[in-house]
Amino acid sequence: MTDALVFRDVRAIDPAVGRDERCDVVVERGLLTRIGPGASQGFTPNDRVRVVDGGGCWLLPALVDQHVHLREPGYEYKEDIASGLAAAAAGGYAHVCAMPNTNPVNDTRAVTELMLARGAECTGARLHPIVAITRGLEGKQLTELAELKAAGAVGASDDGRCVTSSTMMLRALEYARNFNLPIIQHAEDHELTQGALMHEGEISARLGLRGWPRVAEDAIIARDVLFAEYVGARYHAAHISTAGAVRILREAKARGISVTCEVTPHHLLLTDQAVLGYDTACKVNPPLREAEDMAALRSALADGTIDVIATDHAPQSSLEKDCEFAEAAPGLVGLELCLPLMLGLVREGTLSLGRLLDAMSTQPARIMGISAPTLQERALAELTLVDPELAWTPATTRLATKSRNTPFLDRTLVGRAVMTLVGGTVVHDLAGGRA
Ligand code: DOR
Ligand code: ZN
Repeated sequence: MTDALVFRDVRAIDPAVGRDERCDVVVERGLLTRIGPGASQGFTPNDRVRVVDGGGCWLLPALVDQHVHLREPGYEYKEDIASGLAAAAAGGYAHVCAMPNTNPVNDTRAVTELMLARGAECTGARLHPIVAITRGLEGKQLTELAELKAAGAVGASDDGRCVTSSTMMLRALEYARNFNLPIIQHAEDHELTQGALMHEGEISARLGLRGWPRVAEDAIIARDVLFAEYVGARYHAAHISTAGAVRILREAKARGISVTCEVTPHHLLLTDQAVLGYDTACKVNPPLREAEDMAALRSALADGTIDVIATDHAPQSSLEKDCEFAEAAPGLVGLELCLPLMLGLVREGTLSLGRLLDAMSTQPARIMGISAPTLQERALAELTLVDPELAWTPATTRLATKSRNTPFLDRTLVGRAVMTLVGGTVVHDLAGGRA
């Protein structure tokens, strides 16, 4: 008697191992035991087998998001660890890295351990904490990175705030190098962005909203690249948004400096034009830029200069969004929308499916030191079954996240994760009807 989960006749795709074939995939005791044509045969009527009829669906390595805000502890009315990890699973993710701008800030072992313990109780994706670089995100005193790494931290960032002090940044890189922890920068020279509400350009001038100039991002990244080279440490630029950041990071990589970077779906799909109607769902930090930036981000993602697509899932409640543009908090939810939105880029030919999966699974896993989900026999089953044709609208769908702050709410999306396995267990399941 076996307990098995069988995906019959799926398109199994894992570019990391050169796999793209129509076949069956068998999961037993949480492991991928057989992949290949006819692999579903050989079970007896006594075996307890669930067969998922894959006709037309894709089976992929589960996704990894290295940049999310789960809001617990402190802001559970926006999201909590349970709802955030459920949203991740519903979006096809097996692993998410949670930013430390909670309340209290995750700058101590106690908060890191609390988050890990809460995460372990929840059904959904696995949580990996990112800890603060400086205490209270105040930019003045380094946190105890050695102790925090021992407690389970996978990286350090003051995300939401930039580490603008050169002394702090240099010391953080030196300290983190000792244990190979990535330092993740939110690149924004706060002196240059004081009071800024959107990208600085023609539209900010027309709307009379104070602008956030591109160079406030570029200047920090240029400095940090020099620091990363000087120290020989691992540096990762979060949510890059400008053509200038792309150029600087491309040059740094060409010179062999150990830098990596990510882009969000919203910076790939929207420009500052979206702010014309003062839609607070489009208020985000860094702000939506211009068409030339979006084009540079797209081509850098396609050629691998940008390593990763990360959602920067930033839930906000109606308290923070149903108000004047100037008062609104920045951020968009992304976990349940990212894959369908990005599949649109694949369909229009901007991105290959292989590069998409590399950027949404293999690369973020590598950068954050997480074992990368893969479609190989004997591997742990961390899989996402995607129906690439399924059309749906977030506004009329039950979402797992507690918040609704996204300008894509009324968009018809095509493609959706219908099943997600994490650590060998099914944690998201819309495939019932297909069984
Ligand atoms: O839009 C943003 N929201 N950008 C950030 O850097 C922080 C985030 C948040 O925490 O809400
Ligand atoms: Zn963020």
